[in-house]
Amino acid sequence: MAEPDSGGAEGHSHSVERVSEFDADDLGALCDATNAAIIDGGGFGWVHPQMRTSLESYFYGVLLVPERVLFIGRLDGIVVGSVQLVRPARNNEAQAFAARLEHSFIAPYARGHGLARTMTLRVEDAARGLGYHVLNLDVRETQEAAIALYESMGYIRWGVHPCYARAAGRTVSGIHYYKVLQAGGRI
Ligand SMILES: CC(C)(COP(=O)(O)OP(=O)(O)OC[C@H]1O[C@@H](n2cnc3c(N)ncnc32)[C@H](O)[C@@H]1OP(=O)(O)O)[C@@H](O)C(=O)NCCC(=O)NCCS
Repeated sequence: MAEPDSGGAEGHSHSVERVSEFDADDLGALCDATNAAIIDGGGFGWVHPQMRTSLESYFYGVLLVPERVLFIGRLDGIVVGSVQLVRPARNNEAQAFAARLEHSFIAPYARGHGLARTMTLRVEDAARGLGYHVLNLDVRETQEAAIALYESMGYIRWGVHPCYARAAGRTVSGIHYYKVLQAGGRI
């Protein structure tokens, strides 16, 4: 496990870690945070809460995918969110310079403490370290906090997908962003 990035304000501490294996308590807290975010209506592709066993299988699966790097965020030591850095597939030479940030979420009970900003910075640092020039991401048009977060961090809105996601019987648009992380790069 890599060294955590730490920060915090208002008497709370927060940190972000890259995950290579799970401690049982951390995995349980991550599953609780995931379901809380799903119930709140934002984050991840899920629109319905999931069985604990399904979420555990999902997160163990993420660790097995070579292109995916999982980071967890802690507030006062408890896992309350996560984000994934996704590397391009090896056959995708034309886009080998660009990685994706996906599935960023913080449980509703842990929002507003700067943790998502710290997680995003951590993903950017990791992507830079791997030599990527560009980070791509997309969000539902309804995810106002995420839109404010990414636009405040310099992400450039380049397009809108009118049929991006469907939840609660409603189709919503998606907003696509990119950020140039560094000029040149080794990939
Ligand atoms: C978006 C999300 C990850 C933000 O998590 P967070 O830890 O509360 O965010 P932070 O405390 O780090 O806030 C960072 C910035 O985000 C923006 N932001 C956060 N919450 C906001 C809100 N409720 N309204 C407007 N802007 C908000 C602000 O720009 C904030 O900066 P500031 O505190 O200097 O004003 C969280 O609200 C969430 O999980 N939402 C549902 C899932 C989602 O939208 N994921 C993104 C898809 S990739």
